Amino acid sequence: MQLIFFTTSLRTLPAFYIKWFVGLSFFLLTICAQAETTSVASGLKLVQQFACQSCHTIGDQGGIVGPNLNQVTIRRDKQWLMDWLKDPATIKQGTLMPKFDWKPGDREAVIDYLASFATQVDGDAIIAQKGKDENAGKALIQAYQCAACHKVAGEPGRMLFPDLTTVKERRTPEWERNWLKDPQAIKPGTFMPNFHLSDDEIQAITSYLYR
Ligand code: HEC
Ligand code: HEC
Repeated sequence: MQLIFFTTSLRTLPAFYIKWFVGLSFFLLTICAQAETTSVASGLKLVQQFACQSCHTIGDQGGIVGPNLNQVTIRRDKQWLMDWLKDPATIKQGTLMPKFDWKPGDREAVIDYLASFATQVDGDAIIAQKGKDENAGKALIQAYQCAACHKVAGEPGRMLFPDLTTVKERRTPEWERNWLKDPQAIKPGTFMPNFHLSDDEIQAITSYLYR
């Protein structure tokens, strides 16, 4: 009798745990997915309420006073974005971007909302497909959306920031490669983000800019 009980419980116990485990994970996943969508939805509301698109293009709508924000979560990390949204002028003196009155959780929601527009950049795949030279460089500049700030490759960019079409008249390729590697190391406090580019990506972008 005891033996029968022992064998059945051995067989049924794991199944019992597996069912609970699967059920519980599913439940938690649903909650997380819901939290994510509510966050994106409240991010959208805040972006509308504060009229961010009067200055920024998000999706395919908005102004050009500030950078296009579709790829902003690719070029800026979360902490930078939190600090920027909290008080832009502490990061860039004299910026036109206003300081907004955020409630707890608001900035996170706006960042989640902006992240929903971002497309990950697979530099290795671009280079594998287009080679290491100017063709890959042009594609990388588009993928990272350098034109959010710079005039380049026939895209308008912004008057405020250097025109990349003419960078070869001002800078040596060596300076430009070091710049792309780590802008802050060359000019502390610069607004140019570090894209954490690989050496191959930098090489490709350089051959495009100096073609
Ligand atoms: C009056 C215009 C204006 C409004 C409104 C505005 N911004 Fe900006 N924003 C700017 C400008 C201009 C910059 C670029 C910094 C500079 O050059 O001074 C910027 C930069 C940013 C950046 C960093 C961009 C990058 O590429 O690194 C983020 C993120 C951002 N804004 C988010 C927002 C959000 C979210 C809102 C709405 C809550 C908003 N902005 C409203 C003008 C504005
Ligand atoms: C959020 C805005 C922003 C984005 C996006 C951006 N840059 Fe910049 N970049 C700047 C600013 C601002 C400067 C000027 C630096 C300074 O004086 O502080 C600059 C300077 C440069 C320079 C030096 C130009 C010169 O003539 O001195 C190069 C080269 C450059 N950026 C390349 C790129 C490339 C390539 C990308 C995309 C991978 C890119 N940038 C994306 C803001 C940006």
